[in-house]
Amino acid sequence: EKGTYPYYMLKEIDEQPAVMRRLVQEYRQADGEIHIDSALVSELAASDRVYIVACGTSSHAGWAAKRFFEELTQIPVEIHLSSEFGYNLPLISKKPFFIYLSQSGETADSRQVLVKTNELDYPALTITNVAGSTLSREADHTLLLYAGPEIAVASTKAYTAQIAVMALLATAVGRTKGLAKATNFPVFQELGIVASAMESIISEKSHFSDLTAEYLTATRNAFYIGRGNDYYVSMEAALKLKEISYIQAEGFAAGELKHGTIALIEEGTPVIGIITDEVTGSHTRGNLKEVESRGAKTLVIASEALAKVGDQILLPQVHPYLTSLLAVLPTQLLAYYATLQRGYDVDKPRNLAKSVTVE
Ligand code: F6R
Repeated sequence: EKGTYPYYMLKEIDEQPAVMRRLVQEYRQADGEIHIDSALVSELAASDRVYIVACGTSSHAGWAAKRFFEELTQIPVEIHLSSEFGYNLPLISKKPFFIYLSQSGETADSRQVLVKTNELDYPALTITNVAGSTLSREADHTLLLYAGPEIAVASTKAYTAQIAVMALLATAVGRTKGLAKATNFPVFQELGIVASAMESIISEKSHFSDLTAEYLTATRNAFYIGRGNDYYVSMEAALKLKEISYIQAEGFAAGELKHGTIALIEEGTPVIGIITDEVTGSHTRGNLKEVESRGAKTLVIASEALAKVGDQILLPQVHPYLTSLLAVLPTQLLAYYATLQRGYDVDKPRNLAKSVTVE
């Protein structure tokens, strides 16, 4: 039930802090350790490469998890789109482990790959919001997202829940391997900090509706840019904006803009920079200056520690592994308000279904 909310999407955005806390509850054992089946953890720990297979927003969650997963487990991670992977299996490592990310657990493109990897006897885990779903039943292992039903077509809380579950899993695997980075990463505490930080963003809704009126509502196109994790969030931010507001939006690696796409920047084109990484933040700022001098209207989403005077959206500090969980929130709200102001149905965008059960 959406209760007093005008749309499910807004309700689901608001639920994200509670989902983070529920994940802590569900995955924390009495002794403070991570409650994930030890057979799954040791099988993953013994693998030489992780293949994440997913579509759309779930594939973006895979990207958001790639770096911390590699750091915490010391296992290389590849992200693949199901619809590409299904037809042309790439060269697979000696001891692969497959992770299927799927909110619904019913996505046909992903299932098609799972059938194939099962035939090849590769171990597989499905991370899904729906217990008993097809992908859950057909994989060796399942981890649940505990996000509650997601009704709005545009996925929000499933994306953040997927990243959080990947963080729990990576920490468990790294600890099993005796890796200091994982042993020293207080994952439950850090997810609690994320939950509180999410609340502080959500409490400033009117700010976001003012920003969309100024930057997005009347535009034909828009760009999100960032580097590293901020680039991966940019891809999701752009998908969210285009799928419900119908503004043509692209997420770009900030440094790639000048290799072609900058030709699209005109007087007034909105370019939104995401800056949470201290190594690359100043470079992304440089790219924002480049587009500004060609007429772009720039908007900055920055971590407090990296913020500069004039930045429009500030993110409370969270652990560097988990910045995507926070950076995506303003972009969900911008997509929501831009759509509302353009007069479209936020929950039911044209041409889209909640779960895509055809290939
Ligand atoms: C976008 C969106 C889709 C889904 C994709 C995969 O907001 O919801 O891109 O993420 O269709 O769906 P699942 O996760 O159910 O496999």
